[in-house]
Amino acid sequence: MSLALRERIRTAFAPPRYLALPLSGIDLSTSGVKAVRLAEGAHGLTLESYADMRLPSGAYADGEIIDRAAVAKVLAEAARTVGISAANVSLPESKSYLFEMPVSGGSAAEWRTAVEQRLDEFVPLPPSETAFDVISAGHSEHGDTLVSGIGFARRIIDDTLSVFDQSGIRVQALEGETFAFSRALLARGDESTALIIDVGRSTTKISIVARRIPCFATTIGFGGHSLTLAVQKHFGVTEAEARKIKAERGIVPVPGNEDYLAAMLSTVSAIRDEISTRLEYWQEKVSVSRARAPVTRAILVGGNASVRGFSEYLEGALRVPVVTGDVFTNLASRDEWVPAIDYTESLAYAAAIGLALRDDATSYA
Ligand SMILES: Nc1ncnc2c1ncn2[C@@H]1O[C@H](COP(=O)(O)OP(=O)(O)OP(=O)(O)O)[C@@H](O)[C@H]1O
Ligand SMILES: [Mg+2]
Repeated sequence: MSLALRERIRTAFAPPRYLALPLSGIDLSTSGVKAVRLAEGAHGLTLESYADMRLPSGAYADGEIIDRAAVAKVLAEAARTVGISAANVSLPESKSYLFEMPVSGGSAAEWRTAVEQRLDEFVPLPPSETAFDVISAGHSEHGDTLVSGIGFARRIIDDTLSVFDQSGIRVQALEGETFAFSRALLARGDESTALIIDVGRSTTKISIVARRIPCFATTIGFGGHSLTLAVQKHFGVTEAEARKIKAERGIVPVPGNEDYLAAMLSTVSAIRDEISTRLEYWQEKVSVSRARAPVTRAILVGGNASVRGFSEYLEGALRVPVVTGDVFTNLASRDEWVPAIDYTESLAYAAAIGLALRDDATSYA
């Protein structure tokens, strides 16, 4: 891998000190672009500005940039709105390959060489077409260092860099989005194993993180928009009206709303089942291997996390507590500042905030 790429695809390293750090993150995904800029205050970091811009349908799909001009335009608009010219940028979970491997040697260069030799075991692509990065994830039973890594097709990285070039935004670092979710939502030093669920508009992303490092992740190809569509169909209303009804009624049973609830549940149960299958597999595996800890809680984020009754509904199936996330966990204490954004709305910004937090040197300490 060329040095330029290696410098740009970083999973979780503290950034070099000599760079001017933009404290900005841009989360590019199927439905749109979220951009944030943090500011350093007397009591820590606060959210300075944020923007959420929709992409035209089909411009970005399944982790691929389809309509480069359209994506570049929306990126530029989002960057202008939040006042940034450089940012840390997400790479899509659906195109990533997570892996873990014990390595000997003490330096990152030695770990990389060890991983390079076995790269084709972890990433089903020709090694020459693969870009990857690794971080230390503790120690194996035999005392070796355990590294966690993430790989992408170089093409995905090149396409991302090129669309950002086109939009005039300097990419400070690229990062797999699951690392960004984890950095925003779990407090520094949190050793727990947690399931992060991001229910967006077009996708639902789940990841299992241990000690804030993702060990498993997957993207489900539908999200809250299918709930909106279910409401729209049930009531014969417009999309905007359906979104309002969805937010107000959620999936809470009340007398007389049985038909509505059945329509919602037919969709939401598909999301629940996908999550529950993955979680059950993990919980069974750890009970046998003991190399891993079981998931003790789920953290729900994304624009749909606030759908009334959703976390309770998931909790019933997942058999672990389900809490809605706090995307400001690692910013200044809320005793010191009041975010300009609603809590409900903030739930869609976990990845963007996690990306911006890369520039906070203490984030992964
Ligand atoms: N207050 C609310 N109550 C319920 N649903 C909401 C609320 N606000 C937004 N949503 C829903 O959240 C979704 C948008 O969430 P989010 O911004 O996380 O998606 P996205 O990141 O654009 O999508 P994706 O990650 O799939 O590309 C839409 O389905 C919208 O209907
Ligand atoms: Mg999203």
